[in-house]
Amino acid sequence: MKSKKNLVLLGMMGSGKSTIGQLLSKKLDLEFHDIDKHIEKKEGRKISEIFKIEGEIFFRKIEEKITIKVLKLNNKIISLGGGAFLNENIRKEVLSNNISFWLNWKSSTLIRRIKRNKKRPIAYNSNENEIKKLISERLKIYSMADFKINCEKFNKNEIVNKIINIYEKN
Ligand code: S3P
Repeated sequence: MKSKKNLVLLGMMGSGKSTIGQLLSKKLDLEFHDIDKHIEKKEGRKISEIFKIEGEIFFRKIEEKITIKVLKLNNKIISLGGGAFLNENIRKEVLSNNISFWLNWKSSTLIRRIKRNKKRPIAYNSNENEIKKLISERLKIYSMADFKINCEKFNKNEIVNKIINIYEKN
């Protein structure tokens, strides 16, 4: 089988990167790599604990290291952490030899999904207005992905099929 580029999912917390990634992995029969899970495995603790004990700067350093390592693989489905694409080194790597998809939703949908989520330190420690601001700041960066998928009006399978259609053509 021809070696294809990795299929990379990016976007805000709550955009369904892990769920859609798993479904894509089954349908395309490609291995799935959830970067948040890799970080937790490597560190032997939850992301919320890493943030609490070591702080965000430490987290971002290991996030960069692990994400870039996984991006060097081929023919995988990879879901990034919500903040990863903001890192210039990660972004360059994603844009160099992968096919990237931004899962885009209305802010109100994302806020409803992530607010007061204990597993997500950034969402847990921010109020609604702060999350809204974070989303609008990140939009510009997320829009640098190769493809934008507007997810709002579609169910999981429709989103997966849209992504597969594009991936197979590229
Ligand atoms: C973060 C998103 C999280 C995780 C960490 C920071 C962010 O990943 O990497 O809590 O800055 O948006 P998910 O998008 O998978 O929740």
